[in-house]
Amino acid sequence: MLSGKFQSLNAKNISGEDYLSPSRLLRWYISFFQKDRLRIATGVLLTLLQSIALVPVPLIIRRIIDTYIPARNTHAILAACAIAAGLYLLHAMLAFSGRSLTLLCTKRVTENLRALLCMQLQQMSLRFYDLERASELHARVVIDTERIDVMGNAIVVHGVSSTIMFFIASGVLSWVNFQLFLMTIALLPLFYTAHRILKPRMREVNRLFRDGMEGMSSKVNDLLQSIRLVKSFAREAHEQKRAERQFRTVTRSALAMTILDSFYNNLMGFLTNSTTIAIYATGGLLITRGRMTIGDLIAFTGIIGFLISPINILMGMVTMVYAGLASLKPVHRLLTLDDPLEKYKGKRIVTRLNGAVAFEHVSFVYDTTGKKALCDINVSVHTGETIALVGESGAGKTTFSNLIMGFYFPTEGRVLIDGMDIHELNLRTLRECIGVVSQENVLLNTSIIDNLRYGRMDATKEEVIAAARAANALEFIEQTAEGFDAVVGDRGVRLSGGQRQRLAIARALLKNPRILILDEATSSLDSESEAKIQEAIERLKANRTCFIIAHRLSTVISADRILVFKEGSIVESGKHAELLAKGGEYARLCQRQFPSAQKESA
Ligand SMILES: Nc1ncnc2c1ncn2[C@@H]1O[C@H](COP(=O)(O)OP(=O)(O)OP(=O)(O)O)[C@@H](O)[C@H]1O
Ligand SMILES: [Mg+2]
Repeated sequence: MLSGKFQSLNAKNISGEDYLSPSRLLRWYISFFQKDRLRIATGVLLTLLQSIALVPVPLIIRRIIDTYIPARNTHAILAACAIAAGLYLLHAMLAFSGRSLTLLCTKRVTENLRALLCMQLQQMSLRFYDLERASELHARVVIDTERIDVMGNAIVVHGVSSTIMFFIASGVLSWVNFQLFLMTIALLPLFYTAHRILKPRMREVNRLFRDGMEGMSSKVNDLLQSIRLVKSFAREAHEQKRAERQFRTVTRSALAMTILDSFYNNLMGFLTNSTTIAIYATGGLLITRGRMTIGDLIAFTGIIGFLISPINILMGMVTMVYAGLASLKPVHRLLTLDDPLEKYKGKRIVTRLNGAVAFEHVSFVYDTTGKKALCDINVSVHTGETIALVGESGAGKTTFSNLIMGFYFPTEGRVLIDGMDIHELNLRTLRECIGVVSQENVLLNTSIIDNLRYGRMDATKEEVIAAARAANALEFIEQTAEGFDAVVGDRGVRLSGGQRQRLAIARALLKNPRILILDEATSSLDSESEAKIQEAIERLKANRTCFIIAHRLSTVISADRILVFKEGSIVESGKHAELLAKGGEYARLCQRQFPSAQKESA
């Protein structure tokens, strides 16, 4: 159960102690490979064989140097070289197929994770979205999954095979020359110490870089989202400065990361080369004392790579695993968040509504702000009634309609649809029966016809045209060159406010809902558009329960009942003339909002 506030999903905010341990997180991730386990096992096996295939090569070379060359056996030399070449070919083939196979599995798991995240995000309630930043959620789906993918690959491809390879190489080396092997092992702590000192710093720089990248991505995103605002306030220079500051932070952390990375790699390279020199020195001494052959030494230096490279790989892997785990945490958290609002299982499926709506002692608090937006609301609305909601800005009208949609659950009291508590209903099916023309008037960046069909995916072209006509939208649609195929731009920027509104009305009409919620846009329209929209609204009202959040007097007057909201409470309710005669809140509101009201009703 989701209690209290959501914790933000940012990795920084999910500290290690109060969250799953890395090993449990990894186990959770690995469980995604369950379906592909045969393929992944084959991939790991091939990767391992690929390394093992090369182990005999130095031994073959030893044989050539120690035996065949002194014996001047050209035939054997050529045959041994052919075998070595064959082993290299085998290595290449095994490497290619192993890599392809494991890559296929990890990519499939990543795709699966992305699909699950996308599904989960669509199922989260609006309460969740009040708390989360879109750009961070975007990062979960796009960036984090990629990091997890890199980690998965590192573990599957390198983790298993490198560990086994290390032990095989150790065995072969001690067999070739045990003393030289002991000397080499004695040098390994040097690598470990360098790693221990540098890695924590590298991780820190890595984290800074990652945060910087996320910040940059969200900065650019915000800038593009608000480009109209920026331009209208002529704040380009200000935004540019803020963006550049963010870019500089990223550059600084990227440089720090690359420099430290390069230092680490070069130090490791130096240590590796020094080890080789030490082996030559010790090997040379052993050869002069007759305790080793030249072939042994060449074989040893040939195989030493199989010992050191797994160590380097495993140490390098730590960074990837660390970054992957840091990404796995918020992804796991997002996927396991249980949001009771959007649970569909076991809830009653709504197939048909009559359209009766009742609020019983409903109070509502937005938990982001702790603001009490509705306060003991009691209303009963019959099927087919048209209700106008009026009140000052921030009085709670949109909140009221959000509760009917089940976007939020009441903090206290009950919302009943056709006598059924909204808690018991499958909200997705409920919303299928409710039409909304919202205040923000959201259009998708596709063609007009696709936008309209969003109301009902299987609507025929004739039905779409009829809906557009009823919403007074047909005329302007037909005037554009592409007609119904015209693309509307991001959030419908290529249309006027009135046009957008009429499309939204047509879309709601097409859905033919039993309950209609119309949150009129407050933006003022010219009187012609206004008249057209009013006409469309009148057509929309027929045969359904309507809640109209009205900013137009004409809509208010024609309503069956008016609910007057003030600071989250319904302070008056009744017909226009009654309320006006009462001389209370509504009369005051009318005077301010529609100065002509008195005259018309008189
Ligand atoms: N998502 C939200 N999170 C937190 N507080 C909110 C949220 N939405 C609205 N509020 C607050 O709840 C109160 C009621 O808001 P609401 O949107 O219902 O007003 P409204 O009557 O629709 O106003 P308007 O006429 O301006 O659209 C306001 O004080 C607002 O600040
Ligand atoms: Mg509103």
